[in-house]
Amino acid sequence: MTSIAVFASGNGSNFQAIIDAIQSGDLAAEVKLLVCDKQDAFVLKRAKQSGIDTFAFQPKAYASKAAFERQIAAELEKLKIEYLVLAGYMRLIGPTLLERFSNKIINIHPSLLPAFPGIDAIGQALRAGVEETGVTIHFVDEGMDTGPIIAQKRVKVCSKDTEETLAAKIHELEHRFYPATLQQLFHQASEGAEHGKKSVN
Ligand code: GRF
Repeated sequence: MTSIAVFASGNGSNFQAIIDAIQSGDLAAEVKLLVCDKQDAFVLKRAKQSGIDTFAFQPKAYASKAAFERQIAAELEKLKIEYLVLAGYMRLIGPTLLERFSNKIINIHPSLLPAFPGIDAIGQALRAGVEETGVTIHFVDEGMDTGPIIAQKRVKVCSKDTEETLAAKIHELEHRFYPATLQQLFHQASEGAEHGKKSVN
């Protein structure tokens, strides 16, 4: 079973989708910790309701990003976390975590990257007048939504779409696509590890 920590800053509907997929047996993983950088985020209530431990911190209480990431890393190491799953975490991950969890940090972004990185990707797409946008799941590197792409899915933009209707379509897709992609990734990683073991024996 893959041990994960979810990082989120806001509503947490993707966090919820991951929890629900685990509960229904569609995702073989355990969310051991929710890391949240906002004391009043709704995602903290979701975690409490599901009995998931939280590490909620105030970035301003630390001298630097490295300082709070060192504390996060200590929490993650205590729990033997294997993957960091970002779901609406509104901060760039710094070198402290990137070095410790190299190729083990995953993010979901509501556009077809490399188009529309950064904040308000759905609004950016709408204002650009594109006929399709989508969702990207990717490994995290030091850039803003720039890491290697794992999977993408398209969403049509209709002329009648508003930011609300387009966001609803994208979120509905995200809630199925993120757990399914994580399941595939963790499954492949564990098969790879098994394979590795066998060839050593
Ligand atoms: C999602 O659209 C995700 O793609 C982006 O942030 C949003 C988080 O939504 N990175 P929620 O907090 O999971 O509802």
